[in-house]
Amino acid sequence: MDRFLTADDLAKTLRQDVHEGLTGTPKTLPPKWFYDERGSALFEEITRLEEYYPTRREREILVERSADVAAAARARTLLELGAGSGEKTRLLLGALAGTLRTYVPVDVSGDFLEEAAAGIAADHPGLEVRPVAADYERHLHLLPGGERRLVAFLGGTIGNMRPAERTGFLGGVRATMSGDGFLLLGADLVKDPGRLVAAYDDAAGVTAEFNRNVLRVINAELDADFDPGAFEHVAVWNDAEEWIEMRLRSTRDQAVRVRALDLEVRFAAGEEMRTEISAKFRRERLEAELGAAGLEVAEFWTDAEGDFSLTLARPAG
Ligand code: AVJ
Repeated sequence: MDRFLTADDLAKTLRQDVHEGLTGTPKTLPPKWFYDERGSALFEEITRLEEYYPTRREREILVERSADVAAAARARTLLELGAGSGEKTRLLLGALAGTLRTYVPVDVSGDFLEEAAAGIAADHPGLEVRPVAADYERHLHLLPGGERRLVAFLGGTIGNMRPAERTGFLGGVRATMSGDGFLLLGADLVKDPGRLVAAYDDAAGVTAEFNRNVLRVINAELDADFDPGAFEHVAVWNDAEEWIEMRLRSTRDQAVRVRALDLEVRFAAGEEMRTEISAKFRRERLEAELGAAGLEVAEFWTDAEGDFSLTLARPAG
């Protein structure tokens, strides 16, 4: 496996992120730290919730359109950013079987990747599987390129980026693409705020546990003493930005020690700390942002309900 990101790099980035986030006003934490083993399991559980439609809708589109993706891209290499577990990948790999030689799953967590890659390699004899541990916001230029490469960025994870980060990311993807490359982008769409909020504040409280899990991660990694029970899950629709915000609201005045950073952080009762944004899109904005990055939309698909989108883009001609 290629590693552009070691466990050491990750630990350092976590320290920086947490220090910056907990000393800023308002306090924030980046969503990428949700996903330790427990957090990943909770996210898997979220994807099966009635209220959480994105995973199901994206799968519906892929079932319908993978063959069209394959026919257009005729990809030799599939580079999957934030490599998913299982099904989406399987649909794409199945459709691309005629042309595909190499599959490159990219993720920050090397351990999880190696396991997933071994499973995929076993199911696809003849396919070269080359997992890469990397941060797709920083290491795009280091990832395998070549002709007829399809870059897949699925699940709506682009929604975790703010507009300026998206600009950098999409420009970075374009810069590493040859003329015959494609980008397959999954993005959640703007819809009734009631449904959006329900998707991020489910009745069973799984998303609340997922949100609070970031506190456990910090406790474990940075020897902190957050009491997850003293924080309430909050999900709000920000209509001006068109994104969902997840926050953790302190239920009392409290002080938290982060020993590895030699930091004490005070929370007032009712104070809210933002832990995630999940931006929702309109077709026009996706087209505009892709266009600004030098990419043109070859295909734009949604599920039958119009909940979620899959865009196939290529370098503008
Ligand atoms: C994995 C970033 C696509 O934003 O919907 C799910 C994460 N957060 N429920 C999303 C998430 C709360 C998810 N992404």
